[in-house]
Amino acid sequence: MARDGAVYACQACGATHTKWSGRCDACTAWNTLVEELPGSRPPGALAPARSTKLRGGLAFETLDIDTPAPPRIVTGCDEFDRVCGGGVVPGSAMLIAGDPGVGKSTLLLQVAASAALRGVNCVYVSGEEAIEQVRARAQRMGLGAAPVRLAAETSLRDIVEGLKREPVELVVIDSIQTLWSDQLEAGPGSVAQVRAAAGELVRLAKKRRIAIILVGHVTKDGQIAGPRVVEHMVDAVLSFEGERGYPFRILRGTKNRFGATDEIGVFEMSDAGLREVKNPSALFLNEGGERAAGAAVFAGIEGSRPVLVEFQALVAPSAYGTPRRAVVGWDSGRLAMVLAVLEARCGLSFGQRDVYLNVAGGLRITEPAADLAAAAALASSALEQPLPQDCVVFGEISLSGEVRSVGRMESRLKEAAKLGFGRAFGPASAAEAGVLPVAGVTRLADAVRRIGDNDWR
Ligand code: TYD
Ligand code: MG
Repeated sequence: MARDGAVYACQACGATHTKWSGRCDACTAWNTLVEELPGSRPPGALAPARSTKLRGGLAFETLDIDTPAPPRIVTGCDEFDRVCGGGVVPGSAMLIAGDPGVGKSTLLLQVAASAALRGVNCVYVSGEEAIEQVRARAQRMGLGAAPVRLAAETSLRDIVEGLKREPVELVVIDSIQTLWSDQLEAGPGSVAQVRAAAGELVRLAKKRRIAIILVGHVTKDGQIAGPRVVEHMVDAVLSFEGERGYPFRILRGTKNRFGATDEIGVFEMSDAGLREVKNPSALFLNEGGERAAGAAVFAGIEGSRPVLVEFQALVAPSAYGTPRRAVVGWDSGRLAMVLAVLEARCGLSFGQRDVYLNVAGGLRITEPAADLAAAAALASSALEQPLPQDCVVFGEISLSGEVRSVGRMESRLKEAAKLGFGRAFGPASAAEAGVLPVAGVTRLADAVRRIGDNDWR
């Protein structure tokens, strides 16, 4: 029997239910509902702000008043600052989410050290590592002299009380999942605890105009372990990504109340911490060597910057009844769509063949403009005909098999020209930019024919 007022919170998505059941109605996960005692707030809810207006009325404002841009704390870690929209905002809370081991602690220690060296009053609270470990890491990264104040603490009450007493501008909490509040019965890392800790810290940030950066680990399926709820509570969510085995790490904004969310920051993990990669456009290209059948260089745009990256496809006879479809760095749904269009409109058959698609360097591409690059790599492998060495590819593909033009074609072409590429393969309208000769196509079937005939006029 449910106790009076008890709610059951899903540990995967944070949804609350009045009755226990084996499966969460909201996210369909099994065995994730846990009873919470009454009194805890619903997901995402902040404490009601103390209002200065009279009771029972609304104080209306107009839209036409110029509001100054929010002040920023510039940390001096340029890639990080750019993804934030020009630095972190005092009085805001931010979540940095990523897989365990991707480098979140390393990144934030560097950010805190860089900011501290510029005179920002920084505190780094570690709930995962002992002070000695954090210090040893900082010294190995050559940051031993930075005036960052370290604390190892997991008690929410002690952290909040401590921060109230200290003059501080920037706080890193590593990680939100290790904090616990003695007000709650639930264990650390549970939705109730994470929600309480994030709520309390967000309030503290606003009240004392501190910039608070929370670290959150994500689970394998891409959700922030349990507390999806934190995403709704903070002002910005940045995800830190990287493929195992590659040194590159990408910081990507997924939510930002104070800036754009399409910007990325690129880092390289080295023995001495993360190195900023200021000009990533050529980073994801395989240097030298012949470009084999199945490879296509995509001229992409990540945030404000052009990035060239190689798509690699392998289409091989299947040894099993059900052919395999494996994709790294691109959306598997998008791959299924491109394969369907290649089959239905271009006469290629993948029914008895395994298909592997890989984006080189560990970058994850989300732009629809990459459709044609993926299709060209697949067709090139299926037809065993390489694309020209000096050719970049871009274009969106529709279900009807058309190749559509994409945004910022001139920037894509200019970057390709700068890196020594001599031509492009894409929507016919790209030729108007006049930057590079374009083998233009309007239909995917023309594109496949060009590849098969090795016709690049
Ligand atoms: P870490 O920042 O601890 O990851 P997270 O906080 O996201 O769990 O980074 C851990 C990995 O980074 C670890 O496997 C080792 C690697 N690393 C380096 O390669 N060089 C370095 O200088 C540091 C500090 C870490
Ligand atoms: Mg860590």
